[in-house]
Amino acid sequence: MLEEIKRTAAFIKAQTEDFAPEVGIVLGTGLGGFADGIEAVHTLEYKDIPGFPVSTVEGHKGRLIFGRVAGRRVVAMQGRFHYYEGYTMQQVTFPIRVMQQLGIRYLFVSNASGGINTSFRVGDLMVITDHINLMPNPLIGRNIAELGPRFPDMHNCYDKDLIAAATRIAEEEGIKLQYGVYVGGTGPTFETQAEYRYFKAIGGDAAGMSTVPEVIVARHMSIPVFGVSVITNCGLSDEVGDHEDVQLQGRKAGVKMERLFKRMIENLK
Ligand code: HPA
Repeated sequence: MLEEIKRTAAFIKAQTEDFAPEVGIVLGTGLGGFADGIEAVHTLEYKDIPGFPVSTVEGHKGRLIFGRVAGRRVVAMQGRFHYYEGYTMQQVTFPIRVMQQLGIRYLFVSNASGGINTSFRVGDLMVITDHINLMPNPLIGRNIAELGPRFPDMHNCYDKDLIAAATRIAEEEGIKLQYGVYVGGTGPTFETQAEYRYFKAIGGDAAGMSTVPEVIVARHMSIPVFGVSVITNCGLSDEVGDHEDVQLQGRKAGVKMERLFKRMIENLK
């Protein structure tokens, strides 16, 4: 496994003239627009990267973009791998481990999720303050000691300093933020009403099908993480949202998220 990670990282380094990104970014469903704001230097399609999982989904956008955001070197994943697509957890999290080998010092993650907290509205941005993992743990199996410990600590999983920076920047930018706990399930079904109530009862604020595996492997490797969920639907609401409105709210929220990420990257130490 480690050899494969290193082989892929070496291939990418050769293709990108040792670009050495400082920040890794995972762009969630509908949030790929952030990629347009990157001054791209190199772009690699996942299918051209040895060791990367091969996408089974038709028309699935999958590429790594190396470039600059606010003068900082970043690598962004436009399109991620989900467990529900049939990948193993090792495959889902492989790109994060490769990014670590490329030298990232921070990981920014984003996703679309369903609000469970009844004060949330469609189009809200939720800063992830913690998560509950309802998927298989990606660290099950032999531990790769070179990457991290057998029993990694999950306190401060979402970096407190980065959350504080987000709060400050959002105030300056006039962006409203919600805060909460992300519950990661396998999908691909959305939750039943009873499941949304269960997620709420166990302490969740938003439900999704991604992010948690990537965050766990990043924290295994001691990389500070910042995460944001765009609330695209409200699970406990009886109203079935107008589809076009949901998409519009999603896009508007995406624009806010892009602005927040950009300013935060600009302000990194
Ligand atoms: N549940 C799980 N994943 C999701 C949802 C949801 O309600 N909305 C967007 N992704």
